[in-house]
Amino acid sequence: MKFVSSAVLFAALTMAAAPVLAQDFTGQVKARQGQFRIMAINLGILGAVAKGEVAFDAAAVKRATDTLAAVSMIDQGPLWPKGSDNMAMDGTNALPAIWDNAGDLGAKWAAFGESVKGLQAATDAATLGKALGATGGTCKACHDANRAPLG
Ligand code: HEC
Repeated sequence: MKFVSSAVLFAALTMAAAPVLAQDFTGQVKARQGQFRIMAINLGILGAVAKGEVAFDAAAVKRATDTLAAVSMIDQGPLWPKGSDNMAMDGTNALPAIWDNAGDLGAKWAAFGESVKGLQAATDAATLGKALGATGGTCKACHDANRAPLG
């Protein structure tokens, strides 16, 4: 009898504790989504130059590529806590696959960072366009594996 009642008590405690243990990862999700927005904005700036819509201005291109390089150096670890996937909470498109495939997100993030070197080396619209294709490929590779299809 004693065993049963302590088992019941344990179950009750566990249930009572669950809401307290559930963490609020809204800040981490907003931060990682914000960094992606910064990336998209700067990719757009460079895309307009590559397409010839905006003249190649080395200083402006450097500002955008430096920004991308800076974002690529943000440590991703703290931005992706376990339990911040789109099955566990609202407001995110991060797939649980991120936490099932340890290391994949980091490797794909590193590939993005590496591709930024190509952007920084561009000297005209044509070389910038080529490098942008490579960077865009790293965005897509990670989205295909780790981001829910946008509805
Ligand atoms: C290492 C993986 C990875 C790389 C590299 C990556 N993304 Fe993403 N991106 C994601 C994931 C995962 C999400 C969903 C994040 C969430 O909703 O919590 C996302 C979301 C986004 C969003 C939506 C942000 C929002 O406000 O919800 C944009 C825009 C975006 N990415 C653009 C880009 C661009 C542009 C690149 C390349 C320059 C890029 N991403 C590279 C994984 C990646």
